[in-house]
Amino acid sequence: MNSTPVLLTIAVLGGTGKEGKGLAFRWAKAGYRVLIGSRIPEKAKATALDLLNRLNGNAFIEGTSNQKAAGAADIAVLTVPYAAHRETLESVKDALYGKILIDVTVPLVPPKITKVQMPPAGSAAQEAKQYLGENVQVTSAFQNISHEFLLRDEPIECDVLVTGTSKEARTETLKLVAAAGLIGWDAGPIENSVVIEGLTSVLININKQHGVSNAGIKITGVSRES
Ligand SMILES: NC(=O)c1ccc[n+]([C@@H]2O[C@H](COP(=O)([O-])OP(=O)(O)OC[C@H]3O[C@@H](n4cnc5c(N)ncnc54)[C@H](OP(=O)(O)O)[C@@H]3O)[C@@H](O)[C@H]2O)c1
Repeated sequence: MNSTPVLLTIAVLGGTGKEGKGLAFRWAKAGYRVLIGSRIPEKAKATALDLLNRLNGNAFIEGTSNQKAAGAADIAVLTVPYAAHRETLESVKDALYGKILIDVTVPLVPPKITKVQMPPAGSAAQEAKQYLGENVQVTSAFQNISHEFLLRDEPIECDVLVTGTSKEARTETLKLVAAAGLIGWDAGPIENSVVIEGLTSVLININKQHGVSNAGIKITGVSRES
């Protein structure tokens, strides 16, 4: 009997962009089936081909529309600028029915991106939860991971704090954090995402002051062995 675990299909909505492409690379490298989503399917196909070439063809990555990617996936990841958050959610709401959405969005309000400016719902992830309703589990993760390092095959010195609407959804998300080569922590209910989304502006602030791009966070005082 073949005991090889069947890995999930992950849709990266807005996966043509900086953060989504980097995450897609890491999950495809780990053996997951990855669907790049875009408003423009041709753009998604080009990103998928580029990632496939980076992995010497040893991966499953395809590009399609955000709607088709969300519909065909087991779990979806949203990586679009905050300005496109609601519009993208509207376009995939039906396709996400019964699934988990991992929201990576940071509600930055340019030009003052070093200042925390949270939306009335509390956070982008809480807005997603409100809009998608009870039939979609929403988690929030990866906001503090700079895209600059995701496409490189080297360790990233930053932990991932995961919040979400259920323990089960957070556990599934933490599996994908580990698959991306990162250390993750269950940071509790989705309401706590305000802290983690807000922390991104703090890290951008520190980056600017020190002329770097990789300020990060690490949880201390707990064993880092999984
Ligand atoms: N970049 C980072 O290092 C980083 C780190 C942590 C968290 N984040 C968060 O992750 C999210 C994505 O960041 P990113 O840097 O990857 O963004 P990005 O490269 O600027 O955009 C990502 C994708 O979103 C889609 N998009 C852009 N503008 C849009 C619009 N007006 N309407 C609809 N779709 C639009 C585009 O996809 P299509 O044109 O293909 O549809 C684009 O490729 C943001 O919320 C960001 O705060 C980013």
